[in-house]
Amino acid sequence: LSLDWLNAALSDWEAQGLRRHLVTRTSLQAAQIEINGRTLINLGSNDYLSLASDPRLITAALQTTTLQGWGAGASPLITGHSLAHAELEETLANWLQTEAALVFPSGFAANAGTIAALVGEGDMIFSDAKNHASLIDGCRLSKAQIQIFPHLDYVSLAQQLQKTAVHSGRRLIVTDSLFSMDGDTADLPLLCQLSKQHQTMLLIDEAHATGVYGQQGTGLVEECVCARPDLIRIGTLSKAIGSAGGFVAGSQVLIDWLLNRARPYVFSTAHPPAVAAAATAAIQIIQSEPARGTELHRSAADLRTALTAQGWHVLPGNSQIIPIFIGDAQRTMQLHQALLERGIFVPGIRPPSVPAGEALLRLSLTYGHTGELLQQIVQHFAALRSSQG
Ligand SMILES: Cc1ncc(COP(=O)(O)O)c(C=O)c1O
Repeated sequence: LSLDWLNAALSDWEAQGLRRHLVTRTSLQAAQIEINGRTLINLGSNDYLSLASDPRLITAALQTTTLQGWGAGASPLITGHSLAHAELEETLANWLQTEAALVFPSGFAANAGTIAALVGEGDMIFSDAKNHASLIDGCRLSKAQIQIFPHLDYVSLAQQLQKTAVHSGRRLIVTDSLFSMDGDTADLPLLCQLSKQHQTMLLIDEAHATGVYGQQGTGLVEECVCARPDLIRIGTLSKAIGSAGGFVAGSQVLIDWLLNRARPYVFSTAHPPAVAAAATAAIQIIQSEPARGTELHRSAADLRTALTAQGWHVLPGNSQIIPIFIGDAQRTMQLHQALLERGIFVPGIRPPSVPAGEALLRLSLTYGHTGELLQQIVQHFAALRSSQG
């Protein structure tokens, strides 16, 4: 049969320790979750500020559903753009202090759609080697020429920019601000300076930084003194904001262009109004409860210190994403299993999420991991370390 090849391909994937299986959570999304009838400490969500199950988001979603219905029923440009979507876009623009913002069905769609709307054949993209899959796919989709620079190597980037200075098409630099797997951060002031000096557009994906960095919680761009009105700021509503969807924030002309030309925006049904209302409620909480972010950073720093002292190879960084480098994919999954047996869920990250030979355990900490849970995490890792000899 025409799909028989899939069995062989999946077995091959399995033999390399790369095959994935769905797990079903049977509890709320929180710092502790239930899977297969067991309660586990959850180090595998991006719900960094523990808002995904917050009653205020649930109430906002329920009230909005009652007033505005569940499904959006159409793409935003037809009749899918509800009052809840409009309010969210206004809230985002005010929060990020940009002229305008546009909400996409997902962060993936925001990245892929925006890049492909800004550059095309004859144009050029400069992309960090560790950018997220949605940025990579957007680059490929655009048909622009792609120059990949080694991760965080801005000397190489500057050389690439210099060499292509006479290029006649548009040029775009694309980067994550906080890298999703390695938990390290881009040098945004330097990237701003390079993009200005070489007259390129600059797109920054703040998916993991939104809500977590900056005094207002808007992300790493907020901490960057050279923030400019022509920056293309992308974020997701599905991680620290605890809802779903993605957004682009920037100048009015950028948003006007995207709502005309970003294909996942134009040709996809808007997400339900309730999803937008929950995101707006979350942003209000982030603004009124800044301690969530500060406490998260403090816990992350403590956990990094403790794990490093135990001898784990914690990759450098200062974020709530704490990667322990293991290397081999099979070994990573053995450790994942051993932690599971101890009552902790820590995802093993394998290719294609990371390059071959760079598998890691990715601990993502949330605000809900308070003192006692943190202590338990530290103790379990210590015990596992000593049992490994
Ligand atoms: C860096 C980065 N950008 C974009 C996305 C996509 O966001 P979403 O999950 O909202 O589609 C992700 C999600 O995994 C991500 O890690």
